[in-house]
Amino acid sequence: MAINPDHSLPNKFCLYIGDTGSGKSQALKQLGKIPGRGVRCLLWDPGQDHKAQRCDSLSQYRRLLIAGLRRGGGFRLALTLPGRQQTPANHEAWCAIVYEALNGKHLTYVVDEELSATSRSPAKADPSLNLLLNQGRKFGLVYHGTIQYPQELPKTVYRACQTLFVGIQDVEAVRYVAKRLDVEPSKIAGLKPLQFIKSAKGEPQKTMQMKYKKL
Ligand SMILES: Nc1ncnc2c1ncn2[C@@H]1O[C@H](COP(=O)(O)OP(=O)(O)OP(=O)(O)O)[C@@H](O)[C@H]1O
Ligand SMILES: [Mg+2]
Repeated sequence: MAINPDHSLPNKFCLYIGDTGSGKSQALKQLGKIPGRGVRCLLWDPGQDHKAQRCDSLSQYRRLLIAGLRRGGGFRLALTLPGRQQTPANHEAWCAIVYEALNGKHLTYVVDEELSATSRSPAKADPSLNLLLNQGRKFGLVYHGTIQYPQELPKTVYRACQTLFVGIQDVEAVRYVAKRLDVEPSKIAGLKPLQFIKSAKGEPQKTMQMKYKKL
């Protein structure tokens, strides 16, 4: 069970929306929101986009996570299941394992890649992701999710993530995102790879350009 709730912790959850190649994984690595070392970082990484100790089964993931928590200090643990096992049900099992590991006395950074593949409905997240997003903040969760098709994202994730990075996407997605975020569709349609509009609660929107980095 998640332990040591600290109700004063801020919501730092981020969501990255964009087509394949828009630069979501690059943004995760480059924007400095997730320290590269010295912190607990738990990743759902179907595309092997991140450097981390990698597991290919949930049981191995749980075992190494418990070992890391006992050892103390920072660690980066990625789950990359074989393609056909990257299902909503297994993602739910991973979310439950992550929730169990949360401790309000330590930040736990979570990278949740390719939410379109693991989301069953745009209405509401499944129970374990829902719990993670709705209760995780006070147990030190810093959640970063990515999605290619924003129309497929559960509303729960939109509600939980107060900082959004919007990159290039197809026409249908542009319309959907523009309406949701109150951005001119032409502004989104004009984006280039590795370029994002940042939209954060209480801040003016801004456009940022990154350069590809081998990290
Ligand atoms: N070796 C390279 N040199 C220069 N640019 C590269 C190189 N490899 C990838 N890129 C650029 O980096 C971008 C890919 O970024 P990234 O992997 O972050 O995309 P993504 O949004 O995460 O895609 P996906 O949804 O498929 O995971 C593309 O614009 C691509 O052209
Ligand atoms: Mg990626």
